[in-house]
Amino acid sequence: MKIGIVKERHPGERRVAVSADTVKRFVQMGLEVHVEAGAGVSAAVIDAAYQTAGATIVATAREALADADVVLKVRKPSMEEIPLLKKGSVLVALLEPYRDRALLEAVAAQGVTAFALEMVPRITRAQSMDVLSSQSNLAGYRAVLDAAAEFGRAFPMMMTAAGTVPPARCLVMGAGVAGLQAIATAKRLGAIVSATDVRPAAKEQVESLGGTFVAVEDEEFKQAETSGGYAKEMSDAYKKKQAELIAETIKRQDIVITTALIPGRPAPVLVTEEMVKTMKPGSVIIDLAVEQGGNCPLSEPGQVIEKYGVKIVGHTNMPSRIAVDASALYAKNLLNFLTPMIDKDTKSVKIDTGDEIIKASMVSTDGKVVSEAVLKLPLEQPAAAKPAAPKAATGTTATPTADAPKAPAKRKPASKPKAGGAGSAGTES
Ligand code: NAI
Repeated sequence: MKIGIVKERHPGERRVAVSADTVKRFVQMGLEVHVEAGAGVSAAVIDAAYQTAGATIVATAREALADADVVLKVRKPSMEEIPLLKKGSVLVALLEPYRDRALLEAVAAQGVTAFALEMVPRITRAQSMDVLSSQSNLAGYRAVLDAAAEFGRAFPMMMTAAGTVPPARCLVMGAGVAGLQAIATAKRLGAIVSATDVRPAAKEQVESLGGTFVAVEDEEFKQAETSGGYAKEMSDAYKKKQAELIAETIKRQDIVITTALIPGRPAPVLVTEEMVKTMKPGSVIIDLAVEQGGNCPLSEPGQVIEKYGVKIVGHTNMPSRIAVDASALYAKNLLNFLTPMIDKDTKSVKIDTGDEIIKASMVSTDGKVVSEAVLKLPLEQPAAAKPAAPKAATGTTATPTADAPKAPAKRKPASKPKAGGAGSAGTES
């Protein structure tokens, strides 16, 4: 049985689906691993490391995929890659099942049995396969480092002979996996941290990390969690009350990191333009939800902009900005996902369609899209994503980041920067 690995070609994607360690484990199971040359370079895994682990390096993606029984990827395959997949093969990747139905149909038509890792249920047995957690955790960490890099001041309080540097105030909005890691990281850097979430369970978690919890704690709030542990869409009345509380809180912040998501829906707007106007010049907003429409309507995917003196960072694909660790954890998640499917005697894939994890994550097989969660969605899905290269807004400067979709128009202020308006935007590291 052969596993095929290709270089990720999605713009800005630096991760890779296998590490030298997981290749070694697959080889120990008696499987062959064929890796396209250079597939791991951007995640610091050179071809020689894969070879030492027992992989065969092949020159092209076509060769890696041609007779692969299992293809492991980070991102969904491109429409050009799908015809290269072998009929009857298994594909495991982040397939964006709620956003790209056409792709799922194409994968199904190719005769591929595909698994979307986003749909692995969050049950105890599947924790070691949970890519959403492993990647969000690193994204939350990296978001704070990006904020620190854009911020023209220090995070910790410093008492020096030349004067006292005040500590930065950091508000984290959405205290899920990414948010909790952001809280912990900002605390370690010395900031005064507060956080908000609509799930009541988040309060204790935030406080256990030393953060202050900010939320309207009414009856609706107490019920605001699904049985799966996710946030529910809140009523307009609750959103209004919460927005008022946040508006008061935000004025005092130096750093705002937003991570709020509702699965399968556009991200809720939490930081309005009016709120941005009240923030101190030099403050920084990192919008981790930018790819799902953004928690701040001003954030732009793949851009660092400056508006009303506030830097608004819209890096897409945050895990890819810490690609070495993100790849290592992702690869381990994949190893844990695939291992129960390998029949150790016949060295072939044996899919237990009755298994809860398989049922939830399988999106196509036998030429059809089979995921109930996907099939019940309307074919015309809500437009969650913002356009990749929006038009310039007056008084705004923007710098495309390394993760920006290809060739976004580099925007310049239409006129001279206004007072409290545009200055020089941050640059990409
Ligand atoms: P997510 O990425 O879907 O959302 C991020 C956070 O935003 C969530 O905490 C959510 O409650 C919050 N949010 C949504 N709307 C909001 C609003 N209007 N205002 C403020 N915050 C808002 O969530 P993530 O990080 O995937 O975690 C969701 C839950 O799943 C958490 O309870 C987490 O602890 C749990 N979980 C369970 C696992 C397991 O049992 N295996 C593994 C990982 C997470």
